[in-house]
Amino acid sequence: MKILVTGGAGFIGSNFIRYLLEKYNDYQVVNLDKLTYAGNLENLRDIEKDPNYEFIKGDIGDAGLVEEILQRGIEIIINFAAESHVDRSIEDPQVFIKTNVLGTQTLLDAGRKQGISRFIQISTDEVYGSLGATGYFTESTPLAPNSPYSASKASADLLVRAYCMSYGFPAIISRCSNNYGSYQFPEKLIPLVITNALEGKELPVYGDGLNIRDWIYVDDHSRALDLVLHQGRLGEIYNIGGENERTNLDIVKFIVKELRKPESLITFVKDRPGHDRRYAIDSSKLRKELGWKSQTDFQGGLRETIRWYLDNRKWWEKVKSGEYREYYTRMYGNRST
Ligand code: NAD
Ligand code: TYD
Repeated sequence: MKILVTGGAGFIGSNFIRYLLEKYNDYQVVNLDKLTYAGNLENLRDIEKDPNYEFIKGDIGDAGLVEEILQRGIEIIINFAAESHVDRSIEDPQVFIKTNVLGTQTLLDAGRKQGISRFIQISTDEVYGSLGATGYFTESTPLAPNSPYSASKASADLLVRAYCMSYGFPAIISRCSNNYGSYQFPEKLIPLVITNALEGKELPVYGDGLNIRDWIYVDDHSRALDLVLHQGRLGEIYNIGGENERTNLDIVKFIVKELRKPESLITFVKDRPGHDRRYAIDSSKLRKELGWKSQTDFQGGLRETIRWYLDNRKWWEKVKSGEYREYYTRMYGNRST
């Protein structure tokens, strides 16, 4: 089986490619990634020489390139490629529309033309908006995105749905809650807090710190996607959630304690505009239909993640200093993709 994974040099995509290559030794994976600030080939260093793996630097919005790649016998597309950070989307939405909406549409068109057998759109629970103190997002909760990021992901989901309905396009949408684990870019809450704490820097907590997210360990997400990929029903949506609701403040305090750092590093800062209060996913469809179960308890997973950042200080120091970006400019600056 030949699979095109887009955005595979990012956090979740790189963990998923590693999972796939380890589990299926007869699958061939092509990773198409633009290597934006969030894409880092060091995330894939251990598998870059695997004969079943190939990296191509490029944009999912480049129709010619995507078509050329698909013609090499690609049967499945899994679309992780996206601009993924809410705060950046509030600052500058345009690239979010370009990549998350138009890029997805380019992949859909190319996939249709090629006649691929499956397209998995990696979406997010953020498309459902914000919950009050009670209730859960189900697959039929109306879409009500509140940030340019979530609006762009919701738009892509609607396009995927429309391609299924209008063209019988073989797609499935997965909507996952907040992931944590190794190789997460240190602009997101958990790696930002771990690395700032290790550097003795302030730990910025937005607003009152009582916003709730439903955290899932990245390997549990990969296992869910494995099931969706192989057994998911075409045209369906599957929610994926950790059933693990925590306030941001609880998480920050847990990390501080684990690292034996002072709580005085915690700094309350101005709230994010339009900040969603609570996310909580009902993943009973995934559990009942596909037999998925979360395998990682939150404290264990978070301890393992903290350990990874302790053991891989060079990785995140380079990322934070921007050194790896200069490397890519040197490596790829003259190439024409
Ligand atoms: P990430 O920002 O770490 O990685 C995104 C990757 O996409 C990077 O490697 C980047 O270089 C690449 N990319 C960006 N624009 C591209 C383009 N135009 N063409 C090709 N590649 C491009 O993001 P992540 O956290 O790994 O998220 C991956 C996917 O999962 C996204 O679609 C995101 O919306 C979704 N998701 C993330 C979470 C989470 O908690 N991180 C939760 C649910 C869903
Ligand atoms: P984030 O990791 O950006 O994910 P998302 O916004 O997609 O849920 O943020 C997780 C939560 O942590 C969110 O409620 C915003 C909050 N947050 C902070 O309090 N401080 C920070 O520095 C960051 C990056 C996030």
